[in-house]
Amino acid sequence: MRGERLYPLGDDLIGRDWQALDTPCLIVDLDILERNIDKMSGFLKTRGKHCRPHFKAHMSIGIAKKQMAAGAIGLCAAKISAAEVLVDHGITDILLANQVNVPVKIRRLMSLAARSDVKVLADTLDNVTQLNEAALAAGVSLGVLVEVRARSDLSTYAKGYTRNGLDTADEALVIAKAIDAAPGLTFKGVMAYEGPHPKVKDTAQRRDAILRDFNVFFDFLDKAKTAGLPCEIVSAGGTATYHVTGEIEDVTELQPGSYVTMNTMKVPLAPDFAQSLFMVSSVVGRPERETAVLDVGMKSLKMSKQDTTADDRDRPPIVSVAGADLHHLSEEHAAVRLSGDALSLKVADQVLIAPSYGAPTMNYHDRLYAVRQGRVEEVWNIDARGCSQ
Ligand SMILES: Cc1ncc(COP(=O)(O)O)c(C=O)c1O
Repeated sequence: MRGERLYPLGDDLIGRDWQALDTPCLIVDLDILERNIDKMSGFLKTRGKHCRPHFKAHMSIGIAKKQMAAGAIGLCAAKISAAEVLVDHGITDILLANQVNVPVKIRRLMSLAARSDVKVLADTLDNVTQLNEAALAAGVSLGVLVEVRARSDLSTYAKGYTRNGLDTADEALVIAKAIDAAPGLTFKGVMAYEGPHPKVKDTAQRRDAILRDFNVFFDFLDKAKTAGLPCEIVSAGGTATYHVTGEIEDVTELQPGSYVTMNTMKVPLAPDFAQSLFMVSSVVGRPERETAVLDVGMKSLKMSKQDTTADDRDRPPIVSVAGADLHHLSEEHAAVRLSGDALSLKVADQVLIAPSYGAPTMNYHDRLYAVRQGRVEEVWNIDARGCSQ
């Protein structure tokens, strides 16, 4: 078993100072994490919207349970294997925010549908036919939403990002009607994900950009109403857009992910939420006066570029001491340039790093240590790490 080879096992650490943890490891500051959760759920409650947090942002049932306790209706998942983990832990209202169109995955989806209220997206007639036949054969009724794209601002697409989904309301209406007519399927509504688009700093311009991105979404909602196809679920939204998307009347739920742990790339785009996720690493070498070696490397910390050419936002800052600049990651170690206060770092000292990319970093780890005011309060598994199928 994966957990059994870990040291320390965890429970013996409860109540102890975070500095007693073996490194590298991930901690979350519970006060900050709970404030983030409360802020999002409080905002959505006052707007009459449901919160359906995205599980891929943390993959931990410990955090999912906190989100549910704060009023979440259920969770979003990107992959069937992650959705299975949620269902295994009793969280059964799930939006699988992707298309499932590969036969082996469809079989797996039907088994999951037999024991949960999982819903999925579709954007082609072929896929609607596949899902309908599989649902009828399995004797389940599967909830399906049509996906439209949020993409009037093409700049993000120009950088290579893309998602499935339909580009016109008319095409989306054809799919919605097909879902509605399929005896094995239940038409549930529509999803659009606008999260990555508006990287615009100015708040008013940003709001305009988000709303522009929803052209097809709004058009579809009008056409669905006229066609007498009620959308029980109208799902959209992310951490950097919640304040705009959460005000749209027809939207019934938001699916924010990174707001709970945050990361240094997201904080400037969503300053209402604070980073709660940190990496603890130990100094394991001082080969030169102005260089330290840490025990964290690219097998424990996600940094997409490994050297000084990395974009500044992508280089996780060391936040516990001034003058320590993490500038190169090997597989298992990091090189840190030292100046000022950091010159006093010695072997076995610990430093705190703020991950620049939270979820992929968490995907390297089995455990998450939940810390309040410096003491370990809970030890959570990162239950769905590696669940990429
Ligand atoms: C479909 C979908 N919904 C929601 C989210 C959550 O976005 P964020 O982490 O910005 O809140 C993501 C993240 O990539 C996503 O792909």
